[in-house]
Amino acid sequence: MDKKFYVTTPIYYVNAEPHLGHAYTTILADFMKRFYTMLGYDSYFLTGTDEHGDKIYEAAKEGHTTPEKYADRVSGLFRKTWKEMGIDNDDFIRTTEERHKKVVRDILQKVYDKGDIYFGNYGGFYCVGCERFFTEKEMVNGKCPDHDKELDYIEEKNYFFKMNNYQQWLIDHINENPDFIRPERYKNEVLSMLKGEELEDLCISRPVTRLSWGIPLPFDENYVTYVWFDALINYISALGYPQGEKFKKYWPVSEHIIAKDIVKPHGIFWPTMLKAAGVEPFCHLNVHGYWIMEDAKMSKSLGNVITPSGLIEEYGNDEIRYFFLREMTFGLDSKFNHEIIVDRINYDLANDLGNLIKRTFNMTEKYFQGRIPKFEPEEPAQREELIKRLKSSSERYIENARKFQTSVGIESFWEFVRYLNKYIDENKPWHLFKEKNNNKLSSVMRNLLEAIYSVSFLLSPILINKSFEVIKALGAEGEDADIEGIYSLSNLTDGYKICDIGILFPRIDLKKDNGKKDDNEKEIEGLIDIKEFSRVDIRVAEILEAEKVEGSDKLLQLKVDSGLDERTIIAGIAGEYDPQYLKNKKILLVANLKPAKIFKRESKGMLLAARSEKKGKPILIEIDDSIPTGARLG
Ligand code: ME8
Repeated sequence: MDKKFYVTTPIYYVNAEPHLGHAYTTILADFMKRFYTMLGYDSYFLTGTDEHGDKIYEAAKEGHTTPEKYADRVSGLFRKTWKEMGIDNDDFIRTTEERHKKVVRDILQKVYDKGDIYFGNYGGFYCVGCERFFTEKEMVNGKCPDHDKELDYIEEKNYFFKMNNYQQWLIDHINENPDFIRPERYKNEVLSMLKGEELEDLCISRPVTRLSWGIPLPFDENYVTYVWFDALINYISALGYPQGEKFKKYWPVSEHIIAKDIVKPHGIFWPTMLKAAGVEPFCHLNVHGYWIMEDAKMSKSLGNVITPSGLIEEYGNDEIRYFFLREMTFGLDSKFNHEIIVDRINYDLANDLGNLIKRTFNMTEKYFQGRIPKFEPEEPAQREELIKRLKSSSERYIENARKFQTSVGIESFWEFVRYLNKYIDENKPWHLFKEKNNNKLSSVMRNLLEAIYSVSFLLSPILINKSFEVIKALGAEGEDADIEGIYSLSNLTDGYKICDIGILFPRIDLKKDNGKKDDNEKEIEGLIDIKEFSRVDIRVAEILEAEKVEGSDKLLQLKVDSGLDERTIIAGIAGEYDPQYLKNKKILLVANLKPAKIFKRESKGMLLAARSEKKGKPILIEIDDSIPTGARLG
């Protein structure tokens, strides 16, 4: 197969437990693997843990344990977390494994034999947190800018890699391959590091007297390997470099994903190391921004939700994947907070996608006893239009996701999801049913079910559980489908009885703070805040039927389509409005009002009317027909 794809995450340091930054990068890599697999590629996905070096050694000492035991525990925690999150990595590399250490030693020997490693004196300011020496230019007031710690001046003999032998080659390579490092801002960052001045040679060893927790140099046992020279090699040691089949197959299509914090080691150390070792450079370095916690208050109130396991427990795995992939524009920083997650879930997943599926499944149940209706050749043009829209949205989704731009891609795809809701509103299957226009009703409903299948298939690299629930409920196969087949909108089986899948994405109410309020949050009498307002679910609903409630002059019983369901409400407007007049009118409905019994009938919600004066007559708020049923106010 010539369509191949190889994606990696950074291997994470074991001095910290998995957090949401790690989770994002790993989810993105997992998405990319599944996405390329969906496109018919033979895909391979590597992640792992970085276990040597000062940082780990110090952390183990603090925890009163050995570095080996310490690394075993935290590396195990990473594997457990990824398993809980359904991450489908093909391999998990640990830098303490023999298969890795052997390749590191081989490469060191090769580069040493070539004359690119020499023994020399070094004096410099060293940061344990960063595991590297800082130049005076990089320091801020004598401190490491990342760790805000005074740096120690250390002088010792060490081994150096002549990185600047490859400086010009790297500049040329980046210029000839403009997307070698992407997005562009990070390419520019690397080029400006390269073009400014001569690269300093890279110190690649640590004397055993100072640090013993590392891979001994093959040519001098008094030294261990600098952790970055060791760690970067994981990307090829895991593939069985130099002779392994996987190395031959996947290295030529390698895609690294990292965040902006480790651009220099990946953009400069790694390609020059590869060049010195006679290995072709990777294909692309894909750099994302940082998730920024809004403020301390937010993270405190989120509490345990910040750990990846807590996050998925709170919101659900598919929901968190969707949020991460939709919210972050690749390359830029993104805000992380509770409200944004809830909004994404409520608006995109519950309202747009969940609603579409729920409405369609409910109507199939009601009009066809849950059986997939046949296509009737009633409306061929409409079908072509749907296919055209599906293709156009999907192509933009695919094109962007290929380049790791998941947010732009999903946004384009959502145009189609929203269009399908509009398609329901425009075709009004409930009217077709009432008019007994069975041919058209069958075609419309079949189109919708087919479209939902295609949507679920295309979203399956994101919604790794729920898409397959839908696909299964429709009695279809997800695994072996291909894109052209998906575009055909003819994948389902006539008469198949679909299963009820309930509510796929329940709406989430914003959690109330735990009681206490800051001074500036104290309630001002009579005013409510936006959170309270947003708890009221007001939507556009269409009146399907209206009749007088027997024994009452004031009350009408209305059957309405809320966009979520069909329901009955009792409204006190009989004195002012004739039932006949109300039919097919669009109104505003408070959809999440607790059901109430009025005149022995259950009323699920309330319509909105205005009164010009106290005790004045209610005037119904009528909504323009162009606003789709189910649209939410706010
Ligand atoms: O740097 N937002 O490991 P590390 C987004 N061992 N992503 C984040 C993030 C945030 N706020 N915080 C961390 C190392 N990340 C080395 C890598 S590779 C040969 C060696 C993610 O545990 C992001 O992917 O510090 C970042 O690059 C990585 O975690 C750093 O992980």
